[in-house]
Amino acid sequence: MLDLKQIRKQFPILSRKVNGHDLVYFDNGATTQKPDSVIAAESNYYQNENSNVHRGVHFLSGLATDKFEETRITIQNFINAKHSHEIIFTKGTTDSINIVASGYRSLLNKGDEIIISELEHHSNIVPWQMCCEQSGATLKVIPLLDNGTLDMAEFGNLLSKNTKLVSIAHISNTLGTINPIEKIIEKAKAVGAKVLIDGAQAASHISINMQSLDADFYCFSAHKLYGPTGVGILYGKEDVLNELPAYQGGGEMIKEVSFKKTTYAGLPHKFEAGTPNIAGVVAFKAAINFITGLGINNIAKHEEELLKYATEEVLKIEGLRIYGTAKNKSAIISFNINELHPYDIGMIVDKMGIAVRTGHHCTQPIMDKFNIPGTARISLAVYNTKDEIDICIKAIKKAKIMLS
Ligand code: ALA
Repeated sequence: MLDLKQIRKQFPILSRKVNGHDLVYFDNGATTQKPDSVIAAESNYYQNENSNVHRGVHFLSGLATDKFEETRITIQNFINAKHSHEIIFTKGTTDSINIVASGYRSLLNKGDEIIISELEHHSNIVPWQMCCEQSGATLKVIPLLDNGTLDMAEFGNLLSKNTKLVSIAHISNTLGTINPIEKIIEKAKAVGAKVLIDGAQAASHISINMQSLDADFYCFSAHKLYGPTGVGILYGKEDVLNELPAYQGGGEMIKEVSFKKTTYAGLPHKFEAGTPNIAGVVAFKAAINFITGLGINNIAKHEEELLKYATEEVLKIEGLRIYGTAKNKSAIISFNINELHPYDIGMIVDKMGIAVRTGHHCTQPIMDKFNIPGTARISLAVYNTKDEIDICIKAIKKAKIMLS
């Protein structure tokens, strides 16, 4: 069992007031709060370790490089990747997807197809639209069913020998649906397609294992798993990354540069041009250690209980509809009440110290599917409690009365 009191004590922001009330932070799908250990790691880096990485013979450069590379190994172990050089440090999930989509511009031709789904975040739609525009490939979309799951029969129909890549979210940031990615990967592999999994909403909630999953690419951001903003990873299988063209040119990603011919460095440096977010990478390790210290399965169990409780309680509010009712679901509840605008609900509960996200959540196709302008979204994390859910439900009821 997790000691919630002890966990919450590690997050200084959770004891602040918002609009005169204790903060109830239910916007974890957008970003999570940071524990002391992460804040201290970032601060300690600048106080004691700051230097550039992979570039100097002096003491601090060696120290910064060691710290930077320690995080790579920590992440390798966290996701059970075969090699540490299969972990590329990026700015975050969006950056990771763009690295792959940009590379595929020159790997694809007219007649080739990419499959995504109707529940994707814009960051797993727009890079592929750009890729298709420039390569001549065609984008196909797996439709959503009314309960917020993917139409797997239709996925089967879309797959063909022309499918070169399938890019799917592990967990929907809006609906909470946990997609059957094992099945998706298996089916995609059967036609020879590569698979990218957008794990932005998954990595801090459920266990992920690259060697059993068989995805070609997997990506996530540190800031959604209790780490700093501006840093994330792209995992790629060694051979697949070797085939992927370099994304950006610059320092550190080269073997040799001359005006006649430049050759590129091997993995992971080929994809890490320029000075990276070193402090962020160093603190990323503390975030992973926070998760592994609690145990990802304990986190998943706690969040499952919270989801069950919150779902039962919100459904007691008359006129409330939840979007995304998959059986296999993460702790995300998107809802609307009758014709009330979600923005108004969000504004009123904020006055009571409660942070929820409102709007289209960067998933406009989902809003189109349900014919709504947006939703209010509760997204939970390990430090949230049933008491906070009670406070939130009370506030939503109050908002409903005020707006009706
Ligand atoms: N993708 C983040 C969210 O769902 C920002 O809120």
